[in-house]
Amino acid sequence: MVSNPNSNRTSDIAYALHPYTNLAAHEEQGPLVITQGDGIYVWDDKGNQYLEGLAGLWCVSLGFSETRLADAAARQFADLPYSHTFAHRSTEPVIELSERLISIAPSGMTKAFFLNSGSEAIDTAIKFAWYYNNGRGLRDKKKIISRLRGYHGVTVAGGSLTAIPLMQNDFDLPLDRMKQTDTPNFYRFGEAGESEEAFSTRLANSLEQLILQEGPETVAAFVAEPVMGAGGVILPPATYFQKIQVVLDKYDILLVADEVICGFGRTGNMWGCNTYDIRPDMVTCAKQLSSGYLPISAVMISEKIYDVFKEQSRKHGAFGMGYTYGGHPVSCAVALETLKIYEERDMIGHVQSVAPHFLERLSELSDSSIVGEARGVGLIAALELVSDKSSRAQFSPEAKAAAAIAANALARGLVVRALPGDVIGICPPLIIENTQVDELFDKLAAAVTETEGLLRKAA
Ligand SMILES: Cc1ncc(COP(=O)(O)O)c(C=O)c1O
Repeated sequence: MVSNPNSNRTSDIAYALHPYTNLAAHEEQGPLVITQGDGIYVWDDKGNQYLEGLAGLWCVSLGFSETRLADAAARQFADLPYSHTFAHRSTEPVIELSERLISIAPSGMTKAFFLNSGSEAIDTAIKFAWYYNNGRGLRDKKKIISRLRGYHGVTVAGGSLTAIPLMQNDFDLPLDRMKQTDTPNFYRFGEAGESEEAFSTRLANSLEQLILQEGPETVAAFVAEPVMGAGGVILPPATYFQKIQVVLDKYDILLVADEVICGFGRTGNMWGCNTYDIRPDMVTCAKQLSSGYLPISAVMISEKIYDVFKEQSRKHGAFGMGYTYGGHPVSCAVALETLKIYEERDMIGHVQSVAPHFLERLSELSDSSIVGEARGVGLIAALELVSDKSSRAQFSPEAKAAAAIAANALARGLVVRALPGDVIGICPPLIIENTQVDELFDKLAAAVTETEGLLRKAA
């Protein structure tokens, strides 16, 4: 498409409402219009090249030019551009994708339900938890617990679990059935002399206190990302999930693993659940399921949940929910091709081979006086910024330290993301090679050094 930067800018400001954007600043600043992609790079409408260090929104695992995915979509458009799975109907892409997804799913998952986004998947998992407990006659067991700084989308229910002030303030969230427990950020909240294991024990005790205070008979589910992504790339401390699971089992509370970012190799295994030995009752996934090429997400459930649903559908006459575009045949065909590529190219093996270099280059950045912690696993990482390393004090919000680094990196041709808590998120396409890892961290190191100088000068 021929693009005219000036008219793009004017029309964008006039007509497009942008998510997660300062709308007043946007009228001055205008959009960064991305027009092309190739491999791990994208280009804007002025011809500037960027290494996409966040894989779009943590999703474009196979990079921006995977022709097999375009071909799979074209074939499916030609064969059958739309059908659905309501009322006993099915399509070949849904059948094949369900079978393949379940064959690689975290252990215990036996059925897949398709939707269009991570938010819908979370919203649906919440409804599933309620439907499940009503089916068991446990009509009071409905509260859902998430973690502060967890990110679970923006729908009314999912946004209630996204415990980040920006996403809840003045949206009248969270709903009162949703409760929050601690962020497992050992760097920020571990106490002096406390080990990671002791921190995990403290958090599991705190979760148990919350459950007892609310009444275990009122708590349905705990929803958690294996690695918290948009809330600041927070890795679970040692033994965290094992200890949390003991508490959940004790009070018959479902564990929903939100694998929307972690799923499909991001942490060096197929699932974050594998990396952290999590035994979920339900799993949500999206993003890398189709390498971000088309909207598709899934909720997977265990047999014990399915058995209750089967009884519920006998009682009510049908399983009373579904989305017009859930299991869209073209999205499913693209997801299926994505999963085939992961297997044929041994994408997990590739992540495991690149991750050590990625994490080593990451750790070099902790030499900077403004990097409190450089943390990561597989091909997802973060820098947590501090104004003082020994006290771990943060910069004032007005300094906008993370945003300044992200802007500086962008000017050098690197996309990274400023996240809440003064954190820089890094999450490149899984296909990244070692030399490109060097390019990413060379640019990021230069951006950090320059920003460090500017922040120190301003202080
Ligand atoms: C862990 C997690 N869950 C849910 C969502 C919501 O997904 P979507 O933006 O597709 O609605 C996201 C989005 O980033 C996510 O990271």
